[in-house]
Amino acid sequence: MLEAPIWNSWEDLEHDALACTKCPLAEQGRTQVVFGAGASNADLVFVGEGPGAEEDKQGIPFVGRAGQLLTRLIDGIGMTRDEVYIANVVKCRPPGNRDPQPEEIAACRPYLEAQLGFLAPKVIMTLGNFATKLLLDTKEGITKLRGQEFAVTVAGSNVTLVPTLHPSAVLRNGGGALAQSRADFVVAKRALARTFA
Ligand code: URA
Ligand code: SF4
Repeated sequence: MLEAPIWNSWEDLEHDALACTKCPLAEQGRTQVVFGAGASNADLVFVGEGPGAEEDKQGIPFVGRAGQLLTRLIDGIGMTRDEVYIANVVKCRPPGNRDPQPEEIAACRPYLEAQLGFLAPKVIMTLGNFATKLLLDTKEGITKLRGQEFAVTVAGSNVTLVPTLHPSAVLRNGGGALAQSRADFVVAKRALARTFA
């Protein structure tokens, strides 16, 4: 489904992304491009939607309130942020946290695809609708898809994709949603364990 990276190295990819002006988000108040964070050999990768205010300020994905929840959910399956990789569908902050637009998602997509090509993770958790729709190539909503395993091909490798609720949605919806998130993370952890069995 996803194409092979057109960059020869991770460094070249990051260098280009950090200077990118390919979509309107470059001129709509971003402070910096938020490329991603984590381990270059991560077996588990998280894909969110786009940077918020705090991420835009720090240049690191998921460091605001939703990020603190994501960090706790990762801790909850006995892992740390340092051993996974965290990226977003769009790498620049949409103003006022509006939805990323289709042309912005399309313009940014090659960076995400290239990141996933280099990382070659075993399991990807998509956080919310935007990442799930992009990487599963579906119109189905996250509430239907969450917590299931999907076999996908990313840059020629087989990957298990597990969609889950976006942590921001979990913060808005509380208790039941949090329990669902925790359950989805356990699904991903088991899928990961299976690849090493
Ligand atoms: N929400 C996202 O989708 N990504 C971030 O990096 C932060 C909040
Ligand atoms: Fe480039 Fe992506 Fe930022 Fe748009 S969101 S300017 S495509 S890095």
